[in-house]
Amino acid sequence: MKKYLIAGNWKMNLLQAETANLISQIKEGIQNKKIDDVDILICPPFTNLSIANKAIENSPIILGAQNMHFMPKGAFTGEISPEMLLDSGCRYVILGHSERRQYFKEDNELLIKKLQAAFDNNLIPILCIGETLEERQNNKTFEVLYNQITIIHNFSREQLTKLVIAYEPVWAIGTGLTASTEQIKEVHQWIADHIYAHFALQIPILYGGSMNDKNAKEILSTENVNGGLIGGASLKSEQFLKIIDAAIEIVGN
Ligand code: PGA
Repeated sequence: MKKYLIAGNWKMNLLQAETANLISQIKEGIQNKKIDDVDILICPPFTNLSIANKAIENSPIILGAQNMHFMPKGAFTGEISPEMLLDSGCRYVILGHSERRQYFKEDNELLIKKLQAAFDNNLIPILCIGETLEERQNNKTFEVLYNQITIIHNFSREQLTKLVIAYEPVWAIGTGLTASTEQIKEVHQWIADHIYAHFALQIPILYGGSMNDKNAKEILSTENVNGGLIGGASLKSEQFLKIIDAAIEIVGN
């Protein structure tokens, strides 16, 4: 039996009332379901963390954030510290999402500091890696993934036991295109092998990129896929719940 992590990346969406609403629908939807082997995580925008934390009370839903600064406090206008995330009820933080790499120029040097800060504060980082379409077409996929995953070598095996990796091919994010199960299988195997070879460790590897209620079962059934990082489909309770159902169904078999 395997355990899944079904994570919703809400990105820059939803206001406070919508947040409370969506969470209550998810709570209602998972009531009476056997979710012992499926962790459900939501990552709303910073401004909705407090209200989300209140809304998830008395439910198994876990809270995470989409980003953070690496410093504990100080003159960093507009930034949010790890301690602030903990204080808002977060247990996870998404780091290095391709949108942050692309629009906010996050690079390996910065991500090492953020990972360190996450480990130091007992926040579980979900490190996103993935190639662009151009890189895939030029047979650069594994070179790019290697350059992104290599930052984990700055950390100890013990620290990495708390790491989650999300493989998110950039060309599949928000586009409606999903990687084929062959492509997912190949990359997830490569990531699992890399981590096992260097650290004798197995960590959760999520897939992200246009995952939805229709393709979730197939993707989640793929070898070395331990869950999903879901954007668009995590904003609609029916879709998110169906993805959770797909995971429940697989672990139940
Ligand atoms: P998507 O986003 O599911 O809307 O493609 C996934 C992500 O960016 O994490």
